[in-house]
Order: sequence, then structure tokens, then C-alpha cells
Amino acid sequence: MIIPENVLIDAVTGTVATETERYEKRVSDLRQVFADREAVERMVAEKGNPLVYQVRAYRKEGCDLWFGTTTIEPGRVGSEYFMTRGHFHKRRDMGEVYYTQAGNGLLLLQSRDSQIETLEMRPGVCSSIPPDWAHRSINVGDEPLVFFWICNVEAGNDYADIVQKGMLKRVVVGNSGPQLIVNRS
Ligand code: NI
Repeated sequence: MIIPENVLIDAVTGTVATETERYEKRVSDLRQVFADREAVERMVAEKGNPLVYQVRAYRKEGCDLWFGTTTIEPGRVGSEYFMTRGHFHKRRDMGEVYYTQAGNGLLLLQSRDSQIETLEMRPGVCSSIPPDWAHRSINVGDEPLVFFWICNVEAGNDYADIVQKGMLKRVVVGNSGPQLIVNRS
């Protein structure tokens, strides 16, 4: 029998008090993700390879769901905002839920048949990601973007497709805020 329990998550920082997993991605880990490869190398060489995002998770043996937080730092590589790699789930029948705790972001979603959708991420917004939509989060604000996520332990992350081909759109700095442009790289 699995005993129910609470897990404390800091509303602002996204710290998971009893995390079981954590990883971070720096600019150098995301060389294939950003369009401006020269800007990537410049940041790595001159700015000390900044942290882009951290994932903290809680997984309990025998539970069907696991959850955690993602914290994306504010920043840009060239004209592109700091963002996550983005992924489809290995299980095509399993979606995910995001709940934005802090900051200001965009959730970029792409269906298997190449439909693109964006959802605003701001505190209090709960985003429903249906099965078989790739999802990438982008920090378009000046503060860390922190969101809680929860999905089935079997969902699995398939990064290969998105890292190799990219998503069909990119979010860049426009004249009056974030702008969605066609990905040409
Ligand atoms: Ni996911």
C-alpha cells in the first residue's frame, strides 16, 4: 500500500522540498535548440555558459502520476528567448497539465500533423496539453518562469524529433513583445 502524503513546493521558486530528481540545462546543452549558433558560442565563451532551466521532480514508486516544476531563467540567445528543448511524449495517448506559478511565458504546442498553437503562461493559468502535442515553454518575461507539471509516469519524453527537426515556429523578440516567426533553420 502506498501512503498518501504532501509534497511542499515553493510557489515562487518552484523548489520541491522532497525532490527525487533534478536536472539543469545550460546554454551549451541547448546548442541545437537555438537558431543563432554563433550567439550560443558567444554566450558559452563570454558569459560563463548561463543556466537556462532547471527541472525538479517527485516520483514515488508505484504511483501512476509524477510531478514537478520547471524554472526557466529570463534571457535570450540572439533574438530568441530562453526556452526548454520541447518534446512529444513517447506514449501518444498521454497528455500533461502545466500550472504557471510565477513569471510570464508562452507555451508553444505542435500537433503531429503540424498544427501550431500558443498558450499564454502567467500565474494562475492551468494549461491542458492534449495527448500527442509537442510542447515547449518559453520565458518571454524579465523574471524566472516557474510552472508545475504533472503527467503519467509512463508518458515518457521523446526529445529526438524536436531537437533534430525543431518546431515549425520560433518565438523571438519583436517590436512590441514576443513574436512568432516561421522556423527556417
Ligand atoms: Ni511533457
